[in-house]
Amino acid sequence: MSIGLDPAPLRASRGSALSGRFRPPGDKSISHRAFLFGLLARGETTVEGLLEGDDVLRTGRACEALGAQVERLAPGRWRIRGPGLGALLPPREPLDFGNAGTGSRLMMGVVGGHGVTATFDGDASLRKRPMNRILDPLKLMGAEVLSEARGGRCPITLKGARDPAPILYRTPVASAQIKSAVLLAGLNARGITTVIEAEASRDHTEKMLVHFGAEVTVAPEGTGRRIDLVGRPELRPRPVVVPADPSSAAFPIVATLIVPGSDIVVEGVMTNPLRSGLLTTLVEMGADIAILDRRLEGGEEVADLRVRASALTGVDVPALRAPSMIDEYPILAVAAAFARGTTRMRGLHELRVKESDRLAAVAAGLAAAGVRHAVEGDDLVVEGDGAPAGGGLVATHLDHRIAMSFLVMGLASRQPMTVDDTAMIATSFPAFRPAMERLGATFG
Ligand code: S3P
Repeated sequence: MSIGLDPAPLRASRGSALSGRFRPPGDKSISHRAFLFGLLARGETTVEGLLEGDDVLRTGRACEALGAQVERLAPGRWRIRGPGLGALLPPREPLDFGNAGTGSRLMMGVVGGHGVTATFDGDASLRKRPMNRILDPLKLMGAEVLSEARGGRCPITLKGARDPAPILYRTPVASAQIKSAVLLAGLNARGITTVIEAEASRDHTEKMLVHFGAEVTVAPEGTGRRIDLVGRPELRPRPVVVPADPSSAAFPIVATLIVPGSDIVVEGVMTNPLRSGLLTTLVEMGADIAILDRRLEGGEEVADLRVRASALTGVDVPALRAPSMIDEYPILAVAAAFARGTTRMRGLHELRVKESDRLAAVAAGLAAAGVRHAVEGDDLVVEGDGAPAGGGLVATHLDHRIAMSFLVMGLASRQPMTVDDTAMIATSFPAFRPAMERLGATFG
């Protein structure tokens, strides 16, 4: 796929109010994991509601390269025939993960715990992202890095441990990717692998381990959690139902809040508390969001959200909330630009190592839109005046969430906003443009 080779700029302009009902695409985190568990469970796993975004499809292809048969039965409905834990094949070609940090890092965990060798690579964005955070614990388990680009960057050739050592690992930062990589490697270890995190991060891997029959215990530990996994379980194939992605829902939600007169319903949004920091923050800012019809889908809490345009006020967002809304700061910064008063987002150091340096990219986007703001250490401070000027061109740096965030800004700023590329939106939310247009957004 040529994401990044043919930039597709797009302009968003102020128009009519947004209205209607909308179901966001399947959750990206759960979709990656669905493929990976399909690979590791011997037999036939079916998935409903899979996000068919570029990131996830690349994980699917990597699973094929390691011995799974992966088949699309219908839109969002997939079948994976996995070789099972301990029976992976060595891939013949490098695994190209494109833009996908989650796919590559979790697969490093899988490979790290198996006696296979694989080369991990991706696009210019992925090649900049730090991988030592994953490789360090995998080395403790017995994996070897045969080659890497400077500073632990892709392309990386990893030789997995045939008989990985179970370890107790304290994650150095709150990261579900690090936690998941260690647990996935630990699946093939004899004994108990333990991960301790100082702040709880998204728990989809733990939930899926239980769903597929592994023995996992999760207990509070200080401000965070301790996860113990018994290695070498018999993973049984199970159907996976993927709920709608709250990180994608965030864009129409904030668009509705800032475009006067808007009123929409977003259906089936996952409300897992470890993913709901943005909702909490928006409600604190005065957002009119009604949570309707709470229910369970695929073992996750979901709800329909009725969102109406709202007058927002600046708030102080504590650093402790960051893991539950780590991907939502770019769009929160847009909401903050439309709020009145100061919004301080604390503890954003992890934003510097996402698909782009998101702290710098958001700051540059706010500057392009004439929004007063400052980066103070790891905090982002936005001085909202209720009506950003807009009119700027935003550099997206191969980052889907930067592109979508500033397009949303352009739907309500006084002048249109243009982003320099939208091709990479296909990694997480391929139907972003038509879905937003159906709600009444003006692009082009
Ligand atoms: C993810 C974890 C988060 C998040 C990413 C998806 C996951 O990354 O930013 O988009 O699915 O585990 P970190 O674990 O690095 O915080």
